[in-house]
Parts: sequence; structure tokens; C-alpha cells
Amino acid sequence: MTKRMVVAMELQDDRVRLYNGDCIEKMKQLAPKSIDLIITDPPYNLGNFMRDRQTNLLKMRKNFFGAAGWDDLDFLDWVEHMNQFFEQAHRILKDRGAMIIFMSLIRVETLVELASKHKFYYKTTGIWHKLNPMPRNMNLHFINSVEGWIYFINNGKTGTFNNQNKAIHDFIETGATPASEKKYGSHPTQKPEILYSHFIDILSNKDEVVLDPFMGSGTAGVVCKQLARKFIGIEFNEQYFINASNRINATMEQKVVTDIKETRR
Ligand SMILES: C[S@@+](CC[C@H](N)C(=O)[O-])C[C@H]1O[C@@H](n2cnc3c(N)ncnc32)[C@H](O)[C@@H]1O
Repeated sequence: MTKRMVVAMELQDDRVRLYNGDCIEKMKQLAPKSIDLIITDPPYNLGNFMRDRQTNLLKMRKNFFGAAGWDDLDFLDWVEHMNQFFEQAHRILKDRGAMIIFMSLIRVETLVELASKHKFYYKTTGIWHKLNPMPRNMNLHFINSVEGWIYFINNGKTGTFNNQNKAIHDFIETGATPASEKKYGSHPTQKPEILYSHFIDILSNKDEVVLDPFMGSGTAGVVCKQLARKFIGIEFNEQYFINASNRINATMEQKVVTDIKETRR
């Protein structure tokens, strides 16, 4: 094992804990009922699907996620992986703790079924609309501009919901991730900070513990530091882990806009 890998395995202070490894193994080491909110963006099991369709995306985009190697499982292996994820999530999340999972729409039903088996109460399937996606093959089909997100409660029906008495819709729109959020390295599916701050602000409180077991470029960790939440992040790709660690370490607590509508005015 190289020195760099040893450094990358685990980074901790009293508010941020980052683990470089497989999320199921690392989640098994977390204490029962120790997490207030899980927000995560796991592989969508679309890698093989996209390659089979020969959509030429690798040629069109150098950072194509389907070529990154972390979304290659056969469907049934992916289902079993997500089954183990829900088993651990149920164990470590507090009762009435919330979970947001970003997911492709064709996989939502599979995840709702699996989560329900592990005592998650299904609340909502929402839509995230990207306002400025790449117009790939725009003369051949509809531009891919939406992803789903699923909202669950562990062992209960309602939990923290800081809506400040405003009606919050399940349809949310943001721009693509800005270059200013990619200074620590590029990730093929990096989500914008505003998307995470929207949910973390509504579904958790200051000083509570938020977990992202598929943290990628560390977006959830950045937002947790800005919003004064504690954060646990897990990522098995060493380079993404290093980039995410650097990005999170460089972030300071600060007042940020969390209302998505505000960013569109
Ligand atoms: C869809 S990306 C997350 C992107 C993230 N939302 C962001 O804003 O950067 C999923 C991430 O999960 C990681 N991953 C996949 N399987 C994993 C596993 N079993 N344990 C830990 N990380 C995993 C991949 O390397 C990838 O970085």
C-alpha cells in the first residue's frame, strides 16, 4: 500500500469523518441509530444500459460516467448491493430520520420496494430538472434533463421538515454544476451544491450528523460544513476521495442560499 493511500484511508476531526472504502463495509462500522439524515447519489445502474445502447457518449464527452467503472454491475448484483445498503441505512439512521436518494426514474420502483422491506416509509418521488443540460443528439430525441429523488423516513412516518411554513414543491430546478464547484477535480456526475443545501436545510438541524455513503466529489460534505452540520462521507475511488477531502477541508461555515427558487430569480 502506498503512503498516499494510507493518508487517504481515513480523515477525521470532531465534525467531519471521511472514509476511503466500500460503503457497505464502512457503514457496518457505524453505531446503530447514530445518523440524523442520509443524503446520497448511488450508481444508477445505467452504465451497462448506456453502453448496450451504443449512444456514443464516450466519444461525445470525455468524462462520461459509464466509462468510469463504478456503475458496471449487472442489474441483480446492483439490487443486492442496494439491498445491503438499505439494511445498513436502516440500522444506523435514527428513528424518524430522513433519507434522500437521487436515482434514475426507471430504477425508482425497485428502490422503493427494497427500502420498504427494510422499514423505510416511502414519502415522495420528486424531480430534479437541469435547466441547461448538454443538448446531445437533440435532433434525434428528447434531451435528457431530469433525474429523480426519493424521500424516505426510517421507522416512522414524519421527521424534521424545516419548511418555515412555506409550501415546498417536489419539482426542483437548478443550473448545471458551476465550474467554481469543480476546482478540486472533476467528477462525471457531480451535483450542484444548491441541490444538496435545499434538502439538508429542510431535513436536518444544525450540529446533526449527515451521512453520504457515495460521496463522489464531496458535495454533501461541503454543504454540511457551510450549514454547520456534522458530516460522514464514504467514497471507494481513491482519486475522488482525495479530491473530495481537499474540497471539504477548504470549506468554511458560511451563510449560503438554500432556497432553490432564490437562485433562479
Ligand atoms: C453518482 S456518484 C456521486 C456524485 C456526488 N453526488 C457528487 O456530487 O459528486 C457515485 C459515487 O459512488 C462511488 N461508489 C460506487 N460504489 C461505491 C461503494 N460500494 N462504496 C463507496 N463508494 C462507491 C463512485 O465512485 C462515485 O463517485
